[in-house]
Amino acid sequence: MKKLIAMAKAARLKAYAPYSKFKVGAALEAADGRVFTGCNVENASYAATCCAERTALYKAVSEGARSFKRIVIVADTKKPCPPCGICRQVLVEIAPKLEVVMANTHGCTSVTSISELIPNAFLADRFKR
Ligand code: THU
Repeated sequence: MKKLIAMAKAARLKAYAPYSKFKVGAALEAADGRVFTGCNVENASYAATCCAERTALYKAVSEGARSFKRIVIVADTKKPCPPCGICRQVLVEIAPKLEVVMANTHGCTSVTSISELIPNAFLADRFKR
């Protein structure tokens, strides 16, 4: 866990956040032990921004990983930083049993799960009539 937090912290320093100045880092641990890091990448067209969590997940999926254990999220906040709604939605589809470790840069952590963060999620089975 310490290693994952350190990796998320390091990823946070790479954030491209000239608009919000709010840097976020993530470290996503795959079932096979690989760790994929991510940072937020903002854009002048604000809606094109990608959060740290999704950067990490998209990197992982594009490298062939499909099964995940946990994600660590780090921001410079007073309380540990929870993932935004869009990230919750994206994470729950690929990693429905994911452990979510929210942390701040001062070492304060809080552990939960993606199912707790997005109960009754909209998933592909909803297409069935
Ligand atoms: N951000 C993340 O990277 N993860 C979250 O879960 C919350 C928000 C980023 C997006 C944007 O670059 C900045 O934080 C401010 O919203």
